[in-house]
Amino acid sequence: MIVWKKCFLVFLFAFQVHSENNFRNLKTKTSPEVQQKAAQDVIERLIPNFADRVVIKVDPEAKLNTFTLSKTANSKLRVIASDGVSACKGFHYYLKYYLKAHISWDGNQLNTIPGGDWPAVSLTSTSDSRFIYYQNVCTWGYSFTWWQWKDWRRHIDWMALMGINLSLAPIQEEIWFKVYKDLGLTEDEILDHLSGPAFLPWQRMGNLRGWGGPLTSTYRKNQFSLQTQIIKAQRDLGMLVALPGMAGHVPVSLPRIFPNASYNPLTKWNRFSDRYCCPQFLDSSDDVFQKVSSQFLREVIESYGTDHIYFVDPYNEVSPARSDKEYISIVSGKIYDSLANADPKAVWLLQGWFFVNAGAFWNSELKKAFLTAVPTGNLLVLDLHSELAPQYENTKSYYGQPFIWCMLHNFGGTLGMHGSAHIVNTRIQLARDMENSTMVGVGITPEGINQNYAMYELALERGWHDSDFDLKLWFQMYATARYGVDDSDCTTSWLLLLRSVYNYRGLESLHGKYILARRPSIKLTSPTWYNTTDVKTALQYLINAKVPQNSLYAHDVIDLTRQYFQNLFDKIYKELILNFNNKDINNVTEISNVMLELLTDLDEILRMNEKFLLGKFLLSAKLLASNPLEEELYEFNARNQITTWGPNGEIVDYATKQWAGMVGDYFHSRWALFGKVLKDALSSKKRYNENQFRRKVFNEVENPFTINRKVYTSRADKFSLKRIRGLVEKWKQFDDTIG
Ligand SMILES: *[C@@H]1O[C@H](CO)[C@@H](O)[C@H](O)[C@H]1NC(C)=O
Ligand SMILES: *[C@@H]1O[C@H](CO)[C@@H](O)[C@H](O)[C@H]1NC(C)=O
Ligand SMILES: *[C@@H]1O[C@H](CO)[C@@H](O)[C@H](O)[C@H]1NC(C)=O
Ligand SMILES: *[C@@H]1O[C@H](CO)[C@@H](O)[C@H](O)[C@H]1NC(C)=O
Ligand SMILES: *[C@@H]1O[C@H](CO)[C@@H](O)[C@H](O)[C@H]1NC(C)=O
Repeated sequence: MIVWKKCFLVFLFAFQVHSENNFRNLKTKTSPEVQQKAAQDVIERLIPNFADRVVIKVDPEAKLNTFTLSKTANSKLRVIASDGVSACKGFHYYLKYYLKAHISWDGNQLNTIPGGDWPAVSLTSTSDSRFIYYQNVCTWGYSFTWWQWKDWRRHIDWMALMGINLSLAPIQEEIWFKVYKDLGLTEDEILDHLSGPAFLPWQRMGNLRGWGGPLTSTYRKNQFSLQTQIIKAQRDLGMLVALPGMAGHVPVSLPRIFPNASYNPLTKWNRFSDRYCCPQFLDSSDDVFQKVSSQFLREVIESYGTDHIYFVDPYNEVSPARSDKEYISIVSGKIYDSLANADPKAVWLLQGWFFVNAGAFWNSELKKAFLTAVPTGNLLVLDLHSELAPQYENTKSYYGQPFIWCMLHNFGGTLGMHGSAHIVNTRIQLARDMENSTMVGVGITPEGINQNYAMYELALERGWHDSDFDLKLWFQMYATARYGVDDSDCTTSWLLLLRSVYNYRGLESLHGKYILARRPSIKLTSPTWYNTTDVKTALQYLINAKVPQNSLYAHDVIDLTRQYFQNLFDKIYKELILNFNNKDINNVTEISNVMLELLTDLDEILRMNEKFLLGKFLLSAKLLASNPLEEELYEFNARNQITTWGPNGEIVDYATKQWAGMVGDYFHSRWALFGKVLKDALSSKKRYNENQFRRKVFNEVENPFTINRKVYTSRADKFSLKRIRGLVEKWKQFDDTIG
């Protein structure tokens, strides 16, 4: 009888594993002891002088995603949590709400941690999200390309403190190199396919090939081991990482080896020329796909171990070959099979970007076909742009597949201030409470980081929380903790930002590219939708606040000045065009000079903080090189990505950065040329020709910049509030003259 029962149980278990809902079984394999040690180490790195005051206990019996805070008899802070991430999150909660400290991408404010006794506490908190997710495949291109282990160490600590427990591990080139070589491709054929470091995300998605290459073996190997280190650190804390699967975008030379397989030519992406576009798209229903995929996944799993979650994105800005639902369901079903063959417990993590980006193609029937071809619970969808373009409603909650509500927020990591704070605050709960909701978490999916930090902190915190915040209180608290002082000028400043730049409720995706950062033209429009007076006033409050020496305050003063100057530039640009249309050559000359002066002043201000230095970015790229040739190639990759983005300005300015060096040199040169061309047109009484200008600025400024080796400073000037106040005052007076 007992034996029978056991057999029955075993049978049931086996059945469970091989049938459905692998999502439910996702969990960390790391022992509680390792997680506990890793969490304690995070705290040790963050506050070495106080770390012995914090006692962490990871208790796997505790409710999932829960932390409990209390004080021990000898007055230490005790954090008991279900896992390492929740322990860090719990500690961070205490840090922020009890000690008024702040951690962020831009730095930490820890001055408010008392040397004396810490406040009493007794609370338990459980996350309302099973997963807190972070990363977009593009973040690895726009923000992480040039990072080294020390950057990652700090970043993973930050992730844990924010409660993030799922992210990507997309580095795969060394493995592909091996797989393609084993299949019989030559080294040249493989290098023709792999792109340079700054463009890998788009090559991985099949948007382009070879651009910015050749990808050297040093780079591939270093990245391979970097990822090994990153994954270990994440798993030690109890996080899960999604490994890459195969989508089918393969080298154009693969048909030489497998001439009889079924391929579909990929469509052109953003007018990239044939040399750099259109890898082959191997059909997932073909046996060759299954063969290559299983070879690839075997290598991936052998190299990195697995948490049984894999990301595969066949259609990001790439069209399917056919639009009938039978075809679509075969494609996704077969991609899933390829994962399940390699790992029966596989969950497919999908970026739902193509449903947003190519919405016209993906009608309900096709979406349903794609989503339901995978057994329910084995596909986890990132609803990638939930704050502006949610898809969970029009797909009936992804037809039963679990999904994560994600704030995408920014494209290309440009620095304009914007955000939809109210939407993030309220819609997360609405999505959870939606009838038959399959929402299982909240995430942030920025294309680039290091901008608008407040928005990301808000989304991550709201993801853990089970009800809406009072946003005004939340922003006041943000300012207080960030600057380490409860100052009404600072909080007023942030309330003005909440009411203006962070109050976006429209439906258009914001790119945060202000006119000064764009290629000049006579047809530009300002991207502002808010009352810019609020930004000017917010800056006034911030620069007059009484804040003790604080690097985050200094950072934000510069950032907000940058925002104000951008808004002002938009206004001056309007004047320029008005006077040009009136054929007033003197005014055009004068206004054009004013614009250049504004850029020069802004550059001086940006130079006061290392987070705003082009030179620092270029240096980080060069530091990864192991010889002068690589150094040149990496610098080119870095420069090209933030300017022309492609050999011919294919998506020019998409990832532009308002940094010192960019503003005072690159933008300055473009606007100087533009002013000159407008004046010449007026004085010679010839029509201004936009196409001609575009070619001219590309040939004379933009393209030369990408191959230039000029060294920009990577050391910030001293922060001078006095100087900034003076320059702001000067420009405010000018601002008043143009109404
Ligand atoms: C994240 O998810 C994993 C897997 O379910 C779980 O073990 C862990 O407790 C979760 N942590 C947080 C902070 O949500
Ligand atoms: C491809 O198909 C042709 C015609 O059926 C056959 O002769 C050839 O051997 C096949 N090639 C490979 C590599 O399978
Ligand atoms: C929710 O699920 C139930 C049971 O399957 C179904 O009857 C109902 O129509 C669903 N509601 C929505 C809004 O899809
Ligand atoms: C913008 O805000 C200022 C100050 O609150 C106000 O005087 C002005 O009328 C507002 N402008 C618009 C267009 O609403
Ligand atoms: C041109 O400049 C003059 C002097 O600064 C000014 O009075 C005039 O309004 C300007 N014209 C336009 C169309 O802005």
